[in-house]
Amino acid sequence: ADALKIGIAGLGTVGASLAKILVERRDMLTTTCGRPIDIVAVTARTRGRDRGVDLSGAEWFDEPVALAREAKIDVFVELMGGAGDPALAAVKAALSRGVHVVTANKALLAAHGVELAALAEKHGALLNYEAAVAGGIPVIKALRESLTGNTISRVYGIMNGTCNYILTKMEKEGLSFEACLKEAQRLGYAEADPAFDIEGNDTAHKLSILTTLAFGTRISADDIYLEGITNISIDDIRAAADLGYRIKLLGVAQKTDTGVEQRVHPTMVPLDSVIAQVDGVTNAVAIESDILGELLMVGPGAGGNATASAVLGDIADIAKSRPGAQTVPVLGRPAAALAPYERAQ
Ligand code: NDP
Ligand code: HSE
Repeated sequence: ADALKIGIAGLGTVGASLAKILVERRDMLTTTCGRPIDIVAVTARTRGRDRGVDLSGAEWFDEPVALAREAKIDVFVELMGGAGDPALAAVKAALSRGVHVVTANKALLAAHGVELAALAEKHGALLNYEAAVAGGIPVIKALRESLTGNTISRVYGIMNGTCNYILTKMEKEGLSFEACLKEAQRLGYAEADPAFDIEGNDTAHKLSILTTLAFGTRISADDIYLEGITNISIDDIRAAADLGYRIKLLGVAQKTDTGVEQRVHPTMVPLDSVIAQVDGVTNAVAIESDILGELLMVGPGAGGNATASAVLGDIADIAKSRPGAQTVPVLGRPAAALAPYERAQ
């Protein structure tokens, strides 16, 4: 069968990991997907930088939008980040010509997800974003596909690897907040601007996506009570431990009689709870629903390979799909069928 041709915009932590895996596992993926996956076009800010993988066979583009608009590709993989341009313009350009999109960009989806979902539907393109929430944990698939028919009452968890890594390292190694953040950046866990991690915005972006999938409401990332971890000291962590608790940055979305409540803040969780045992860059997402009951998913929440694994799964889903085959709506239901977001009183 014909190769699936992909273009990758962004060759940083996630993009370079993805490219390496695609090159090294080409034969294996060809067998699994029934056809090869070829990287035919790439872009990043800096041309000529060593990415640890030979991409000389791919066409270089100076501009992401030009790649999305002109490259002969089946899938545009957006791994640059940022809620605005060039990510937004490039994703729109790809979808507008029916090119499928795979992205890990939660900031983009939190700000423009409904508009992009509608655009994808209009042009018969797929928009996959498993890596955007909780790294390698397949939580989008769970909400978008597996739990269809369930009524969901609550979604909550640890959704930011950087914050969980900092809180764990401060407690276990007694290191300063700043030293732990630096290490998280070195390991490729943090956002380009780590304020998004430590001030809770990244968790809020992810939570707003989960809220939409869980409750069928339009995305509302602005209506989230937000408190990050910048004020947490080692003394706070020790005081919590003395009382039998551990401090975790949680995102919580729940349905109430009056609407949806969304919040992100440091939370004291009992030391013997499962959530309290989730250490380091690991994330955990719990989903409470009426048919299944409580589902708890725990796994790597950030980092090159963990994130590339989810991106790769999204690309492989497209490679395995056939034109005209039944597809899953981007936001779990058609964009026009999303209810208005109503904040709980
Ligand atoms: P990096 O900062 O490591 O990489 C970003 C890449 O995009 C770089 O290659 C950069 O080029 C390129 N880029 C940035 N701006 C432009 C531009 N204007 N034009 C062309 N290329 C550009 O980010 P990550 O790989 O960590 O993250 C990528 C995306 O994945 C983000 O949306 C992030 O939120 C998301 N994500 C990241 C996770 C992680 O653990 N790191 C986990 C889950 C999601 P150059 O290299 O030349 O500077
Ligand atoms: N900066 C994010 C985190 C990347 O630390 O969780 C994964 O989305």
